Amino acid sequence: MSDIPLIDLKADPFALFAAWMSDAEKSEPNDPNAMAVATATPDGRPSVRMLLLKGADERGFVFYTNLESRKGLELLANPHAALLFHWKSLRRQIRIEGPVEAVTTEEADAYFASRSRMSRLGAIASDQSRPLDDRSTFEERLKAADEKYGDGPIPRPVNWSGFRVVPEAIEFWQDRPYRLHDRAVWTRDGNGWNVTRLYP
Ligand SMILES: Cc1cc2nc3c(=O)[nH]c(=O)nc-3n(C[C@H](O)[C@H](O)[C@H](O)COP(=O)(O)O)c2cc1C
Repeated sequence: MSDIPLIDLKADPFALFAAWMSDAEKSEPNDPNAMAVATATPDGRPSVRMLLLKGADERGFVFYTNLESRKGLELLANPHAALLFHWKSLRRQIRIEGPVEAVTTEEADAYFASRSRMSRLGAIASDQSRPLDDRSTFEERLKAADEKYGDGPIPRPVNWSGFRVVPEAIEFWQDRPYRLHDRAVWTRDGNGWNVTRLYP
């Protein structure tokens, strides 16, 4: 019915994730690592926004942000998240769910140091998700940070770091003709995984 191969249930889910991300890097016009990240308040009110994936290995999936932003506060109060990648041109989706943990200080420092100077100054100047009376206030804060640090090192703000989503479930979805799509979900089972194909 279709020459698109079915998802290989014998695959390692992290290797399959890496293979699909590699395909996306070749086909997506920008930000193949963009993902929707859902969080929720302790009483279960959800919120979602796009973030960039900055690390993926067997420990989990990492993103960086302001810890006092809406998502940051929600994750500190309720450390669970859901991630969603959708690559339109590939007609593929990956869903990841699990608890979150803080990345180490060393990881956060190393990633912060890898960012461009303006991005680092922006992280210092932005009270992410809080009201901004006027754009000029933000620009003045940026200028003040620029003058303060000059050509010297820029320290990572204490309220800027990363979270790692430790996957309990990873679901792959592949479009197939006539909406007869293919889905497979890996769910954590002790040190291993159970895998199941799902009806589309
Ligand atoms: C493609 C894309 C990538 C983004 N990447 C990040 C990111 O890695 N970290 C971040 O804090 N915000 C990122 N943002 C901005 C977030 O979507 C969001 O506006 C911001 O983090 C505040 O979210 P919150 O109020 O829910 O905490 C990105 C936005 C887009 C559209």
